[in-house]
Amino acid sequence: MIRLQDSVDSPRPPHECFWFTVDFRNLPHWDPTVLSAAKRTPGALGEACEFELLVAFGPRRLRLRYRVTVFEPPRRAVLVADGEELRCADEVRFEPLAAGTRVVYTSDLELKSGGRLKEQALKPVVALNSRRALAGLRRALAAEPTPPPRGLWRDLLDRALLPGALKFTAAGFRAARLPPVVDRMDGKTVVVTGATSGIGRAAALALARLGARLVLVGRDQARLAAVRAAILEDSGNDQLATHCADLSSMAQTRAVARRILDSESRLDVVVNNAGALYADRELTAEGFERSFALNLLSPYVFTEALLPRLAAGSRVINVSSGGMYLQALRLEDLASARGRYHGARAYARAKRGLVALSLHWAEAWRSRGIVVHAMHPGWVDTPGVVSALPAFHRAMHPFLRTPEQGADTIVWLAASPQAGKSSGDFWLDRRAHLTDVLPGTAVHRKTRQQLVAALAQAARSAPG
Ligand SMILES: NC(=O)c1ccc[n+]([C@@H]2O[C@H](COP(=O)([O-])OP(=O)(O)OC[C@H]3O[C@@H](n4cnc5c(N)ncnc54)[C@H](OP(=O)(O)O)[C@@H]3O)[C@@H](O)[C@H]2O)c1
Repeated sequence: MIRLQDSVDSPRPPHECFWFTVDFRNLPHWDPTVLSAAKRTPGALGEACEFELLVAFGPRRLRLRYRVTVFEPPRRAVLVADGEELRCADEVRFEPLAAGTRVVYTSDLELKSGGRLKEQALKPVVALNSRRALAGLRRALAAEPTPPPRGLWRDLLDRALLPGALKFTAAGFRAARLPPVVDRMDGKTVVVTGATSGIGRAAALALARLGARLVLVGRDQARLAAVRAAILEDSGNDQLATHCADLSSMAQTRAVARRILDSESRLDVVVNNAGALYADRELTAEGFERSFALNLLSPYVFTEALLPRLAAGSRVINVSSGGMYLQALRLEDLASARGRYHGARAYARAKRGLVALSLHWAEAWRSRGIVVHAMHPGWVDTPGVVSALPAFHRAMHPFLRTPEQGADTIVWLAASPQAGKSSGDFWLDRRAHLTDVLPGTAVHRKTRQQLVAALAQAARSAPG
């Protein structure tokens, strides 16, 4: 048997270190020999939970199925893999330090054939892999650095629209080399709109894994039930409420906000994610152009209605789009009634409005300690893109991000202490970016105030 023992000191509390380390789905983030990892049993992490790993063992690829045999959060866990060729037993202990945690990792590895000689020959390789893995764990559990402020180079890249847009791809996400989100959200309540598909669904799953209580808004009961089932299977987190509303209707937006006000005493995070790009101009039953209604007016009505449940430390995250770089706000034509209708233009203007609204709220709510972020998820392969931009999807799908990659910055903005320290920025891949790069697209304070007045007036004109 080969026994290896090493330890890592982390500034994070034991429960954060425990949940991150024992969830073996996180192994590819810190152990370079683990190529992929999946949880194979439904529900919460706990005893008898199983993970399947694909591990590089020299030139070979081994499939290992680990089973949790001891689960004592936040102090200790044991995971055992009993394969045809080898048996591994990993014990992880989490010892509280004055400020942080010592993670003590002990691995026993036993070859089922080849005997002692083969074991001795393999020991240096196994020891090297183990040292690398522990170095990866040390990095993953380190304190998160402060995101660097915007600088000349990043601003220049943003201004050069085309090379800047390469960052929106999956390769752009990989190049950002973002560490995993380790911060826990136990006891925090997060509202996510548009949680039944694409980026919103991926964000909801990730936030559930971090322990958040979720309030999910969708427009279809069956799809809400499906996302609930997926969350229960993925994380076992049953701290979950669902609400059905068509958010292109202001009456329904207000009604769902009222239901949330009735059921929740405090909201820690509101993610305004629901959105769509429509090819044709249509008015809603309330008389609003539907892109404006769903992408801008509804987040305004929803968040203003939820304000009584936001308090110091609460965060609002508005999911905008890099498409807004190409358009200026047109206060005189918020309904896109003038000239020929272009769906992408109406969408980009609404998303530009959402970024301007985010900055307005950030300034207006600063004294209350409420933080407001706008973000761009990148170009993401979602059902929304397939249906709204089929040609773009056909040409670009090998380069598009996964929904999980698109949701990463939402999850980080919701969970990270660093993201609570600033307000009013526009984020891509956990970095603040310029909001206007083309002449005439900046939205100055006076225009932001006029926008808010126009939204308030539109909201007042809607029944309900
Ligand atoms: N994908 C990208 O490349 C990309 C890029 C930039 C920004 N974004 C933004 O990211 C957000 C999520 O988009 P996605 O790509 O994940 O699209 P998606 O897969 O179509 O998801 C959109 C979500 O919004 C919901 N929704 C749509 N219309 C609604 C309505 N009238 N009432 C209530 N809910 C409604 C959808 O519900 P159903 O499940 O019932 O359809 C779904 O849950 C959007 O705000 C989008 O503008 C996406």
